[in-house]
Amino acid sequence: MTHKIIIDTDPGIDDAMAIFYAALHPEIDIVGMTGVFGNVTADIATRNAIVLAERCKQTIPVAKGANTPLVMAPNGVSDYVHGVEGFGTMAAQPITGKPLDEPAHEFICRMINENPGEITLCPIGPLTNIARALQHDPSIAAKTKAVFIMGGGLDLGNVTDFAEANIWNDPHAADIVFAANWPITMVGLDVTTQVQCTPADFERLAKSTPVLGGFLNEAVQFYFDFYASHYGERGCHMHDPSAIIAITDPQYFTIETHALEVIVDGARIGQTTRSADPSRPKHKVPMGVDAEGVKQRFLSMIETGF
Ligand code: RIB
Ligand code: CA
Repeated sequence: MTHKIIIDTDPGIDDAMAIFYAALHPEIDIVGMTGVFGNVTADIATRNAIVLAERCKQTIPVAKGANTPLVMAPNGVSDYVHGVEGFGTMAAQPITGKPLDEPAHEFICRMINENPGEITLCPIGPLTNIARALQHDPSIAAKTKAVFIMGGGLDLGNVTDFAEANIWNDPHAADIVFAANWPITMVGLDVTTQVQCTPADFERLAKSTPVLGGFLNEAVQFYFDFYASHYGERGCHMHDPSAIIAITDPQYFTIETHALEVIVDGARIGQTTRSADPSRPKHKVPMGVDAEGVKQRFLSMIETGF
């Protein structure tokens, strides 16, 4: 089965890992990518999506999306985690392509309307573009095959004790997305923090696949520095790759179903909660994971590259 996916992304070091995994996977066809603010500005995210597509030697349409949240003021980019240009200490990478003239939310709606029932949306950044797509054309919810989100966490946060970064960066957008009646799998911190890689893992990739593994190994050093300062050891959580692997390898995850609601103000802003609202659809939330299985799936897929 081929998964036709659109990745909405704020690359971003773990975004790069996710995009390389998807580009190399024989059952995934990346039919588009859309840039969104988050780790970096929307401009940098969009150009970095082009960088990653070209590094993979794939021609993938890329559309630029939102540079600010739907309602609230921006929190500011997390360049202290991903680096000023989004790939650690790497300078801005040259590109030959350019983004579409079409804005991200219109591109998403057009692709879903042109391919009803076939598109899987994979947002791995703040959900602003996805919410704007729903506002632009609410009918896409019924025509979307699946939505696999990296975001949220039912029992933990990372930017605060309660909120995960992608949701925290646009809680209003996230609440619109979770309230919509479409098949969401929310791959949150409950499982992504269990999937961890080390410097030795990326050194292995750099040796086996100098272009793609070498790129990731160079970019990830800055990420390791952040983790060492924040968590006390050089390693990283495989947030975004886990969301893509949940599409191709659901067997690695233990799923619960919950209606989901997002807190949009106060001390717990950005928290994803189990909702008691009967009008909200129930979504899939992986709460258990074969962490070693997901990690090895990622590493072995990158090693099929170059
Ligand atoms: O909380 C982790 C998420 O925030 C990941 O998508 C990472 O790339 C950042 O966007
Ligand atoms: Ca991301």
